[in-house]
Amino acid sequence: MRVLLASAEVFPLAKTGGLADVCAALPRALHSLGADVRLLLPAYESALDGLRAPRIAADLGSLLGVPARLVAGELPDSGLPTWLVDCPSLYRRAGTPYQDPQGADWPDNALRFGVFCHAAARIALGEFGLGWLPQVLHCHDWHAGLAPYLVTRAHGKRPCTVFTIHNAAFQGCFPLESGERLGLPAEVLGVDGMEFYGKLSFLKAALRYADRLTTVSRSYARELLTPEFGYGLEGLIAARAADFIGILNGIDTELWNPATDAYIARRYTADDLDGKAVCKAELQNLGGMAQDAGAPLVAFASRLTSQKMADIALERLPNMLAQHPRMQFVLLGSGEHAIEAGFSDLTRRFPGRLGIHIGYSEAEEHRLHAGADILLHGSRFEPCGLAQMYAMRYGTLPVVRRVGGLADTVTDREDGFVFEEASPQAMASALERSLDSYDAQPESWRALQQHAMKRDFAWDRPALEYLEVYAARDCGAAR
Ligand code: ADP
Ligand code: GLC
Repeated sequence: MRVLLASAEVFPLAKTGGLADVCAALPRALHSLGADVRLLLPAYESALDGLRAPRIAADLGSLLGVPARLVAGELPDSGLPTWLVDCPSLYRRAGTPYQDPQGADWPDNALRFGVFCHAAARIALGEFGLGWLPQVLHCHDWHAGLAPYLVTRAHGKRPCTVFTIHNAAFQGCFPLESGERLGLPAEVLGVDGMEFYGKLSFLKAALRYADRLTTVSRSYARELLTPEFGYGLEGLIAARAADFIGILNGIDTELWNPATDAYIARRYTADDLDGKAVCKAELQNLGGMAQDAGAPLVAFASRLTSQKMADIALERLPNMLAQHPRMQFVLLGSGEHAIEAGFSDLTRRFPGRLGIHIGYSEAEEHRLHAGADILLHGSRFEPCGLAQMYAMRYGTLPVVRRVGGLADTVTDREDGFVFEEASPQAMASALERSLDSYDAQPESWRALQQHAMKRDFAWDRPALEYLEVYAARDCGAAR
């Protein structure tokens, strides 16, 4: 099975969240199952810097009037063949793949990702003489959302198109007038096509034209059919129900493994947790917290946004710290500036009890999961969530809301603590329960940890499910 995977993020070349981790680990698992997978992403500076053995593979001519080349190389670690769409004027900028350094969306995102979609579709259709034709084009999130349509409109033989929704809150909506600039004919810009409340929606385009649709957990697949989570797209998703399936993400169990992790102070396993105490002491030290082996150390490791209930965590934290004089709190993340500032301010009010790092570092994320006792992971909605699975693998018990992939990965009192409502009270009382449980009985806490660490979150099984989606008989035209 030849698969071209198109995504705006692939770890470690470009990452702002879980999308990058999935788009590196899933292809690796598919490759282990015998698939011939190639990756495609825009040539950001970070991607050009990180790509192994880069070389110019093709001149893509002009894509929507922008000169483009294809750079070929290998993904570090896995060695997977990777192509970068190189348009210096669009992608070589400081900032993230989507925003400038001040946090504002790039004003030309429609063109930036429109060009990416044209590149993906034309490569998938074999237009550049690369000597490799995929049977499946697997697109991820709105950034690759126009590619299925662009493939579908081609005459003759074409690959099957699969689109995965990682987060329906991000839809890629732009003025309808940009359609012409993006090479889209007027007939697809109506309500039966890509139009969504007077805008051109990349996400709707994907939901409308991809042969098969998937999302990243079974619960989120169900939730997407409701107005609360579908944001107006629930009707279209329901109409595509026969082509739509939820497949729970896995995690890279080699990269996230306390028994072999090179980032952490002392390695450990579920059967010998001694090293975790050393990791905790190191985390307390790095975070400027008191060295207290018995203090419950709560971690928060998500984007600081309302999706992640970071606002509510911030609101409740002073109370929690006041009520639990030994509790410590460590945070690694970035996001809304007011929330960032709020957490930073708390450090002054509770000296020695908080380690706040606004920003992100892969090494610190590993140390955080290894050193903490509890991961606080609210979420108003959570398509899958990877952080809770990383935490569990390191024996750090998650406190999560019963929503999306969190509901599908954490079982209350077996390997974590689950609450129902997206309210400050519900979050606080679940956190209370976890603290009580931590304080009360070390043996039963250890049993929960061991249970969490032994959960099987490997990619093998989900990758097999993706292969089934790729192989579905009604997928695409002649193959
Ligand atoms: P989401 O993708 O919605 O943020 P996930 O739980 O799926 O949530 O993925 C979180 C991943 O993103 C983790 O691997 C975490 O290490 C990483 N991450 C969190 N914050 C940042 C950030 N500011 N920059 C880059 N990666 C981050
Ligand atoms: C999105 C979602 C997150 C999911 C990730 C990978 O970023 O917000 O829940 O885990 O994609 O699929």
